[in-house]
Amino acid sequence: MKIFIDSADISEIREAARMGAVDGVTTNPSLVAKTGRKYLDVVKEICELVDGPISAEVLGISYEDILREGREWAAIHKNIVVKVPLIVEGLKAVRTLTNEGIKTNVTLCFSASQAMLAAKAGATYISPFVGRLDDISEDGMALIDQIVTIYRNYHYKTEVLVASVRHPIHVTQAATLGADVCTIPFKVIEQLAKHPLTDLGLAKFLEDAKKIPR
Ligand code: E4P
Repeated sequence: MKIFIDSADISEIREAARMGAVDGVTTNPSLVAKTGRKYLDVVKEICELVDGPISAEVLGISYEDILREGREWAAIHKNIVVKVPLIVEGLKAVRTLTNEGIKTNVTLCFSASQAMLAAKAGATYISPFVGRLDDISEDGMALIDQIVTIYRNYHYKTEVLVASVRHPIHVTQAATLGADVCTIPFKVIEQLAKHPLTDLGLAKFLEDAKKIPR
């Protein structure tokens, strides 16, 4: 499973990339707003840091606006993936962008039927939001299971990109279910590396090492 970092924070992206943990990056307007910087400037800097798919989201909601913004995003770097909301106008734009050879990530997916339409439109990635479903007492990972099964049944090429990840269990479940990609906040990437027995074991080794004659 590929790991993307779900962040617009350059220092987080740099740190995760140093760990070798970053195959790509996803951004969204909320993440960029936290930086206080222009969306274009942030994305350009990410493109210099990470050599992998980098999702940049359109802000328009009409077919024409999504298409125009999508083409503009795609023109800035070969690794750009245009993030498009899962609405009817968005699906139409995905069809056109796909026909033009532009990669897309269809975002805000909350159902298997939506995921089917995104695949039919030719999306490169579908982003089901597991955490936001869990937040309203639905089962986010059950949706991943459904989408992975449907895409396998019909050999859809669209990759399942698990988004809205809140904790390490989401990540291991995504991998177990056969998702193609999981986009993970920096805090959760750090949590993935942690285990109390590793810390305890290391402390003991370091203590015992002091007893070894030099
Ligand atoms: C990434 O593509 C999504 O925009 C992001 O994972 C949403 O996460 P959130 O539900 O924590 O805002």
